[in-house]
Order: sequence, then structure tokens, then C-alpha cells
Amino acid sequence: MGIIFHEEEKQFHLYNDYISYVIGICPDGEVGHLYYGKRIHEKQIVKAYQTRGVRALCCNRKEDENYTKEMAQLEYPAFGNGDFRTPAYEILQENGSRVTNLVYAGHRIYAGKKGIPGLPASYVEKDSDATTLEIVCEDAVAGIRVTLFYTIWEQRPVVCRHARLENMGEEMLDVRRALSLCLDLPDAEYTWMQFQGAWARERYPMERDLSAGITEIESMRGHSSANVNPFVIIKRKDTNEVQGEAMGFHLVYSGNFVARAQADTYGKLRFVMGLNPQWFSWKLSSGEVFDTPEAILSYSAKGLNDLSQSIHGFLNDHMVRSPYKNKPRPILLNNWEATEMNFDEEKILNIAKKGKEAGVELFVLDDGWFGARNDDYAGLGDWFVNANKLPNGIYGLSKKINDMGLQFGIWIEPEMVNEDSELYRAHPDWVLGAPNRPRTLGRHQMVLDYSKPEVVDCIYKQLYDVISNASIHYIKWDMNRSITECYSLGGAPEEQGKVYHKYILGVYSLYERLMKAFPEILFESCASGGARFDAGMLYYAPQAWCSDDTDGHERVKIQYGTSYGYPIASIGAHVSAAPNQQTGRFVTIDDRANIACFGTFGYELDLNEISDEEFARVQQQIRFMKEYREVFQYGKLYRLQSPFTKDTAAWMVVSKDREVALLGLYRGCKTPNVGIDLVRMQGLDPEASYTVNGSGDFYGDYLMEHGIPTIDTEGDWFHGNEDFSTELFVIHKQ
Ligand code: DGJ
Repeated sequence: MGIIFHEEEKQFHLYNDYISYVIGICPDGEVGHLYYGKRIHEKQIVKAYQTRGVRALCCNRKEDENYTKEMAQLEYPAFGNGDFRTPAYEILQENGSRVTNLVYAGHRIYAGKKGIPGLPASYVEKDSDATTLEIVCEDAVAGIRVTLFYTIWEQRPVVCRHARLENMGEEMLDVRRALSLCLDLPDAEYTWMQFQGAWARERYPMERDLSAGITEIESMRGHSSANVNPFVIIKRKDTNEVQGEAMGFHLVYSGNFVARAQADTYGKLRFVMGLNPQWFSWKLSSGEVFDTPEAILSYSAKGLNDLSQSIHGFLNDHMVRSPYKNKPRPILLNNWEATEMNFDEEKILNIAKKGKEAGVELFVLDDGWFGARNDDYAGLGDWFVNANKLPNGIYGLSKKINDMGLQFGIWIEPEMVNEDSELYRAHPDWVLGAPNRPRTLGRHQMVLDYSKPEVVDCIYKQLYDVISNASIHYIKWDMNRSITECYSLGGAPEEQGKVYHKYILGVYSLYERLMKAFPEILFESCASGGARFDAGMLYYAPQAWCSDDTDGHERVKIQYGTSYGYPIASIGAHVSAAPNQQTGRFVTIDDRANIACFGTFGYELDLNEISDEEFARVQQQIRFMKEYREVFQYGKLYRLQSPFTKDTAAWMVVSKDREVALLGLYRGCKTPNVGIDLVRMQGLDPEASYTVNGSGDFYGDYLMEHGIPTIDTEGDWFHGNEDFSTELFVIHKQ
């Protein structure tokens, strides 16, 4: 594994056992792209670099009328000098020109990987985990230096990229676009997969053909959003879960983003991803630098399951930083759906006590414990206890909960403020809002201006006081509205193009400070459910509340879609009350648990209000989860049957040693009088014999090649004949 530089041919070959990524310096000094895909021999010189067209309508060399950038595959292309596709960057110079031309000026190769100041990024535990290449390019006329960073990982089909832009001249540079990656592929015969939705139906997979024109997703909401996730797959048209070529692209960022694929009329494909250039303008004075967020490129030649497994392992090992990294997550009970903001200490203790009896390990006090927070209209911004509800303070409550033998956690929404709050009354200019215009509200709240360090500082101090004076093991960090009127009051007009990005940098800095002050805390991110579920957040919060939709049936789709780009251990999944708040549907408590167990399991209801039989089931579920959660959360995931294409969905996890597997089967609406339908398992040892739910004697190859019926044939396998019934199969090697 490593990076080879072929000096004579000026080619860099990044490789490991799985992939090769080849970069070349073009005849005119530009950094060109030569190959990305399945591993090829590292000594191979790539020959097919195209710089010449036929009857080119613009030519980049006097002596060769067919030499044109239009045909070139480039690593960080500019606009304005012959390449008419989407550029990777754009810099407005003082003279009004946006024309630039970066040429190779040197490079460095070293073991390990550096962080990106102020931004989340994948990290090495030891230098031998990865090798990094930095390619430095310069534009002498404009005084720009751009460093392209590439890290290839040991034993993982993953390359990470980002770019650093630097003002080397005397004049001001205005960076209008600075994307994290450009990948020029030689053909466009691909399908694009995006993960889209809205509140309560996050990350449904959706496919589009890429062979012509532009395909794009973006967020301009100030957060990564439930509407489209900053994770995209580009795959060959015949790729499916078990075979074929697929490439994954994550942006390690939680704010506005864009991802675009552009198929040109020569049949090539350009893919770019990064910070959304709309409303973006970052002035760099002499000597200043700007770092783009990181992009993660993952690859598989063996289908989407294999791609997801690589991604899961990579994010768990090299993005998550937490005492809970690769550790089983505590089973929690959250009071939100049980009480909303209507509680007092006694009510909370009653709920927690029943949770303890059921076997939960962590109690989480959700929204409503602070300031004058009795409804959505007040309190945000005032991070001190509401003594009417909790006369013994957070300290008193946390102690009582701890004394029951439970860990204790709280909910916060530190980026927001209500008009009815002490904070807003004291600092009305601390919110984002355009001068002399009304502010758009969301859930009756405004967004604090996190581009101002004093705002972040004030929230930090308030939270520090609460946390340091209580016994807090967990924090759920929520964010319940998108950003509008993104303007920093009192800020200079020419600095306003920075606000969206500085906002997110402010969020990251608060996370970083809290993590440093309280390194033992488990953070869970949340944004009205799963509206900020991205790789950037995972750097701070190893798990994310996946959706406010906890309906046993709908959740299958949400978690199924989420699993393409994110590990099971990151998916916050709870059993809530039935009928469900969002859908009104009744699904049994076992069926609700059978989906929630493929996540960081917990409950979101008052266990005092369920029947004795249901409570006994809950106790049993928790015992079961404690026994198997390591396999659920860190086993290899195989998606077997999609809820988007069939009525019955299925997936399974298999322990690393293939000794234990857990298969979840989820039925939609029943169709009568259908033929036998088999679900074929994956990832088992074909030679070994397994029991299924404690009985039988089945070879791994039988379970994988023949499969098990998903409908009740003779009553042997699957007894849940009702709509939305589920079954969990526990498979053990004998
Ligand atoms: C939205 C979250 O998704 C819910 O789980 C809950 O925490 C509420 N916010 C509280 O306001």
C-alpha cells in the first residue's frame, strides 16, 4: 500500500489491495486525472490521457490547434480557459477577472494524515494507517496557491480529499467556489443514487440515469438536511447489492452543500462535491488560507452491500471519536414522546424507575427542562434549569436517577433562541437576520448567529455550568429549523458571504469545546429527527437520531436507506408508543423492537402506560439486546430485500467470526394467495451448520443459496401473517 511517484512520466499512483487512483501532471502543468477504480498494477503507466480534440473550438496551445482542456480529465479544474464544464473553484480577483490557471509546483508524500483546522475530518490512529499526497499548484498571475490533499488508507477502498487555497500575492482574493473534489471519469454509463426525503421520511434511496446532462442535489438550508443527504453513490447500471462497481462520496460537512454529475457530449462524466457556492464568498487577504471540507471516496467492485460495509468500518474506525467508539451503545429511555414538555420531577422519576425495572441503562431528559420552556414559544437560549418543574435542579434529578442505577442525559438545542427568552432580550442582535426585514421563524424560534465567537462563548459557558454541576453521561444536541435571512447583524457587507460557513464552524467549535471539557459524554446529534445526519456530525456525535418517525413499518424504509452511507451503530432507533404519533398506525411492541434493534436501541414512551404483557416483552427485548447488541451494531450488514421494491423487506447482520447472525424480516401490507418467496441470506460460512431460532440444522450454503421463505408455507418459518408483522431470526453456528 502507498503512493508511488513515477518521476519520468510524472504520474502518482495511490494504491492498496482494493483500489488505484492515478494522477498525472499534464504537459502544460495542470493536474490531470488518469484512473480511479479497482486496483491495477502500481508500476503501470497510464497512457490514455486525452488532451486533443478534433476541430477543437478553443485551443490551449499555439503550436497545436487541437490541444484543448475541453477533453482533459482534471483534478481541480478552473473555469474560463477552455474547460467549459463545472469548475472546482472560482476566484474573483481585484481586477474583476475570474480567470485562473493552476500549474503543478511540487508535491509531498508522507505516512499518516493531518487534520483540517476547525473542520471534522477522518483521522489516523497511527501513521501506518494511511499515506498522504499533497500536490501544490500555483497561479503566479493571481498569486494563488492551491494544495490538493489525497489520503489513501491501508486495507480500505477509501481515498479522502480536500483542498487548501492560499493567497500568495498582495491583492485580495475573493473565493467564490471551493469544492472538495472533482472526479473526471472517462465514461458516463452510470446510475446516480441519492438519499432524499423530508421530515419523518428521511434518506429514501432514489436513482437517476447519468448518461446525459447535469444531475445535481444541494442543500441551502444551513444544515445538511433531511431533503437530500450529502452522500451519493455512482454505480454501473447493472450494479446491485451483490455485484458490480459502485463509488460512494460523502461530504464531511453539516452545512450547505452541492453534489453534481455532468455528462458531456463526448461521453465523459465529471463529478464534483463540496460547499455550496451559492451565497458563498470568502475573502482571502495576503497570506490567508481557506480549507475546504473533506470528501470521502469509497469504492467497491462487488456491489452495494460491500460498499456500505467498507463505509461502515471506515466511519466507525476513522471518523467517530468518542469513548463509545466501537463499543456497544447504552440502551436508553427518552421521555419526549411520553411527556413532551409537560413534566415535573416526580413524573420523570416515575418514568425512569419503570425504565430501570425494564433494564434500560440510560435515562434521557428531553426538551423542556430549562428557562421558561413550557411550550415551543419560550426558553431556547436560557440554559439554566426551570425550577418550577425541577426544584432540585439538574443536579438533584441526575443524582436521583444515578441512585436508581441509571446513567443520565439531557437534551439541548444550543443553536436556537426564542423571542421570549432572557438571552434574546439581552442580545437581540445575536440572531441571524437581514437588516430592516422580518425574520422567518421556524417552530417559533430564531437561529443564533454562530459566526460570532461571543455567541458561541456565551452558550458554552451556560452549558458548562449545567454539565459540570450535574452527573451527565449523554447529550442529545437538537437543531429544529433551517437557516433563513443568513446575515450577521453588525458584520461588514463584504463579509456576509462567509456567514453560512462560519456558522457551521461555530457549531463545530462548540462541539469541540464541550468534548474537550467533558470527554466521557456520549453525544447524539438530532435535527427535527434526521435532518443533519452526515459524516461531519459523526466526528463529534457518534450516533444521530435518525427520524421522528418511529412507526414500526415506515422506520424500515428510513433505516434501510440510511444504512447505505452510515453505520448501524450511528443510527438512533427507539421503540415508541402505538398507535404511532406520525402515522396513527398500530404495530405490536415486538414488531417495533424488531426494527429498532438494528440501531442504537432505546425506548421513547412511558413504560408505566403499557400492559403487563407488553412490559414483560420489553424486559425480554432488553435482555435480548444486551446479549446481541454488539452483533447488531458492529456486525457486517447485508441488505437482502428492499422495502422500496417489495412488500417484504429483509436484512441481516453477521458477526465478524460468522458465528452469529441476526436477520430481520419486515412485512408490509399482506397480499393474499401468493406463491413462495425466498429470502437468501449472506455472509455465513457455507461449510458450517447453523441453527435458526434455536432449532434445525442448516448448512450456510443452504441458507445463502436456497434461502428461507418469507411467507407462512407450512407454518414452519414465519408465523406473522398480519400486515406489518415482522420476524427476527437468530442464527448460530453449531
Ligand atoms: C425534535 C426531535 O427530533 C425530537 O426527538 C425531540 O427531541 C424534539 N425535537 C424536542 O423538541
